[in-house]
Amino acid sequence: MSDAEPVKVEVGLGDRAYDILIGSGLLARSGEEIARRLPGTRAAIVTDENVAAAHLDALKAGLDKGGIQSAVITLPAGEKTKSFAHLEEVVDGVLAAKLERRDVVIALGGGVIGDLAGFASGIVRRGMNFVQVPTSLLAQVDSSVGGKTGINSTRGKNLVGVFHQPKLVLADTQVLDTLPIREFRAGYAELAKYGLIDRPAFFAWLEQNWGQVFAGGPARVDAIAEACRAKADVVARDEFETGDRALLNLGHTFGHALEAATRYDGARLVHGEGVAIGMALAHRFSARLNLASPDDASRVEAHLRAVGLPWRTADIPGELPDAEALLGFITQDKKVSRGALTFILTRGIGQAFIAKDVPASEVLSFLKTSHPERSKRSRSGGLKVSHPR
Ligand SMILES: NC(=O)c1ccc[n+]([C@@H]2O[C@H](COP(=O)([O-])OP(=O)(O)OC[C@H]3O[C@@H](n4cnc5c(N)ncnc54)[C@H](O)[C@@H]3O)[C@@H](O)[C@H]2O)c1
Repeated sequence: MSDAEPVKVEVGLGDRAYDILIGSGLLARSGEEIARRLPGTRAAIVTDENVAAAHLDALKAGLDKGGIQSAVITLPAGEKTKSFAHLEEVVDGVLAAKLERRDVVIALGGGVIGDLAGFASGIVRRGMNFVQVPTSLLAQVDSSVGGKTGINSTRGKNLVGVFHQPKLVLADTQVLDTLPIREFRAGYAELAKYGLIDRPAFFAWLEQNWGQVFAGGPARVDAIAEACRAKADVVARDEFETGDRALLNLGHTFGHALEAATRYDGARLVHGEGVAIGMALAHRFSARLNLASPDDASRVEAHLRAVGLPWRTADIPGELPDAEALLGFITQDKKVSRGALTFILTRGIGQAFIAKDVPASEVLSFLKTSHPERSKRSRSGGLKVSHPR
């Protein structure tokens, strides 16, 4: 275990600015870091059963050291927890612990817990202090930063929520050692995304160093810090997603369609895997539209394949709907406005841009070539993606 000084990244939002601390062993200093920013505070920790088993004691011990008393609300793991029923459970738990507005809700978990606990903290007593302690790679590089919180509705994902920025994000990179490898890979897709959006040197660095990022140690801290810098930059420029923040959706239009097409069955496809395939498709589609070189699309595909991520629809186990039906899922996606398709396309590695009015006919003919005859076959000869643990 290395307890070197953490890397600090600031999210520049004026009087709501906050720090992201990234480093190994940070749970142990959670109390000290929170008490410094929120003196005299008490806490409610919201977590899930998997994360509680691995890391709750360490967080509680860290809070104790800083003199912070904490109540604990432990929920089942999984996307279904982002529901009205569990929101009520969190709200009730925070009120039962008699926390005031100046006290703090701490999310200890992946994006599910972060989104749910963040939403609860945004509405209890009209907005309480909130601290993110992200424990999945996806949460450390993406969901814990930027203040988007919420739950799912029966009508779709993330449809109910508020923007509520945390006061601090504590990304302890050591906790990722207990994350199942499939979840780590899924989070890695979001990490690589920042290189593909506008940091080509970061993507090239990942091509060389991804093995070290998976292994842990300083390269992992460096990669997560670079991703947080990228996310913090975008959030500071466009907190409420009226412009540039949409670039973070690179790969998500295709990815969400694939998630919907697999009925959100995590055994077949988890979000980050959908994003991986979506990013590969976005690059290939951009090449087909003569916006980018096919070599760049090949580079993206090769990197995703190298780390063991799926990169084409053929890599999803089981049957998939045909190209027309996939287009149907795309046009239902929330990033479609008034019939025009909005995509994040690219002019090459690190040159993503927002393309409005992409013709549906182009998307369909692209899907017909990149996603051939999938409805007829249970499995193509694509990469076999194994899902250990
Ligand atoms: N708010 C945002 O800006 C934003 C951005 C991207 C994604 N999201 C949301 O994030 C969610 C996905 O997040 P996720 O991928 O972290 O999923 P998750 O929270 O379900 O975590 C994935 C799995 O890993 C387990 N886990 C987490 N950390 C662990 C650890 N250190 N050790 C062992 N097990 C651990 C969890 O219990 C869970 O089973 C989705 O709901 C998505 O909508 C939000």
